Amino acid sequence: MALSKDKNWWRQAVIYQIYPRSFFDVNGDGLGDIAGITSKIDYLRQLGVDAVWLSPFYPSALADGGYDVDDYRDVDPKLGTLEQFDVMVAGLHDVGIRVFVDIVPNHSSDRHEWFQAALKAGPGSPERERYIFRDGKGENGELPPSDWPSHFAPSAWTRITEADGKPGQWYCHLFAPEQPDFNWDHPEVHEDFKKTLRFWADRGVDGFRIDVAHALKKDMSEPLRSFPKFTDFDNSLSGDDVLFDRNEVHEIYREWRKVFDEYDPPRVAVAEAYVRAERRVLYARPDELGQAFNFDLLSSYFDAGDFRKIIQFNVSLAAGAGSSSTWVLSNHDKVRHATRYGLPRNTDENAWLLTDGKTPVLDVELGIRRARAATLLILGLPGSTYFYQGEELGLHEVADIPADQIQDPQWVRNLFKMKGRDGCRVPLPWEAHAAHFGFSSGGSHLPQPAWFANYAVDVEETDPDSTLNLYRRALTLRKALISGEELTWHGDAHGEILHFDRGNGWHVIANFNGDPIELPDGDVLVSSSPLVDNKLPSATTVWMKIAN
Ligand code: GLC
Repeated sequence: MALSKDKNWWRQAVIYQIYPRSFFDVNGDGLGDIAGITSKIDYLRQLGVDAVWLSPFYPSALADGGYDVDDYRDVDPKLGTLEQFDVMVAGLHDVGIRVFVDIVPNHSSDRHEWFQAALKAGPGSPERERYIFRDGKGENGELPPSDWPSHFAPSAWTRITEADGKPGQWYCHLFAPEQPDFNWDHPEVHEDFKKTLRFWADRGVDGFRIDVAHALKKDMSEPLRSFPKFTDFDNSLSGDDVLFDRNEVHEIYREWRKVFDEYDPPRVAVAEAYVRAERRVLYARPDELGQAFNFDLLSSYFDAGDFRKIIQFNVSLAAGAGSSSTWVLSNHDKVRHATRYGLPRNTDENAWLLTDGKTPVLDVELGIRRARAATLLILGLPGSTYFYQGEELGLHEVADIPADQIQDPQWVRNLFKMKGRDGCRVPLPWEAHAAHFGFSSGGSHLPQPAWFANYAVDVEETDPDSTLNLYRRALTLRKALISGEELTWHGDAHGEILHFDRGNGWHVIANFNGDPIELPDGDVLVSSSPLVDNKLPSATTVWMKIAN
């Protein structure tokens, strides 16, 4: 199947996020690999997604699950080779699936050749200029240059030992110490990333997911401004905060757009920008990245009012920016949505993980039922949907990973008070009765729980009511139903029911937590859970065809 040259293909695409190390392992070392993705192309084709996005597969010591990149233009030998990558892209393209790769421009790993050169070259050298090195404060430079925090706690500054063995300068890392931040005031950093974008685009990559797109530019004016603590959205609307969402960051993306437009169809991109919605759309402008993740649903509960507000707001916001909205319920950084919805509202997810998922008690079935309803709802919306691997199986978070097997750097850096994100990164169950649930012949880099057997692909394939079959059905229908990007609301703007249509008689009706309701006359095309006495019960979404 030839890929279309339509330059708007991304506006209403369904993109499936693959966390490569946990997808499928061909060589039996317990880590998923590139050849593993290639061998599952038929699974992806049957699922019906338009594109896949691969989380980092670059050489890495895995200090942060691969978001610590040693070399941006290669494949981690543990995961395969560039040739295998090319085979994967060709195979996906053959079945009409496009490919996004993850670009991590805020920081490299500390093993990157530039950082190693900077360590050797010493203070004041051109090599240090490509990162953010500063002398420390205090009599002997023993205090960090500023109070900036790291996302992974505590400080964003780490002191190095200079070549002569003496304590030396400090470098900035908004994440782990193994992730030194680049200096985006340096022209070589700009040039090198454009080279990376072209490298992958030349290999046929169709799109890029841009990691922490809002963080690249910091206010480096001396004395460094204070920024002691992260809050939800630190940045104001001014574009003049210390560390995030500074106005200058957009110059970078305007440069990148020129690179994207060298290709036919133009390469596309989506920003991961944890900023206020009003500022998020700036990243999505047509002369910048084109799209930005809308994480509003990722951080909300299964609530009709919240969904309605978020949908209305984002649809109009994206349209105003010349983009289309994105919808995300799960990703590799967040407790899976089936689990979030099966816990009582306002559960502190970290506290719950620290009890190994015992308190409060998770309502397994309710969580899945609500997750299916939410998924069918967002698939009915205009814009693009980003899935995270395993959600199509209705997987829950793995909450009881033993302390000595936790990989997320947040665990150690928060002194064992934050379990972090491993629970959604456990390798997928493919076969209920095979070793490692068919993920690998040799092992699993994170432990898989026994209950994964109930969610294995081979089990769900044979069950017509499984979550996998719901996803497949919905994606097939969506392709046939989708036309424009309009959305018309019906009914009450309050209450437990959300009802809208998408033109051509395609109606989406969701009952969140209300009593069962009568459906309008028409054909039910798909339902996230069975109707009861022909009524739409709570925590259920239907798609209908209703004559105009
Ligand atoms: C993004 C990634 C996350 C990673 C961080 C640092 O937020 O999604 O997994 O830890 O950036 O690269």
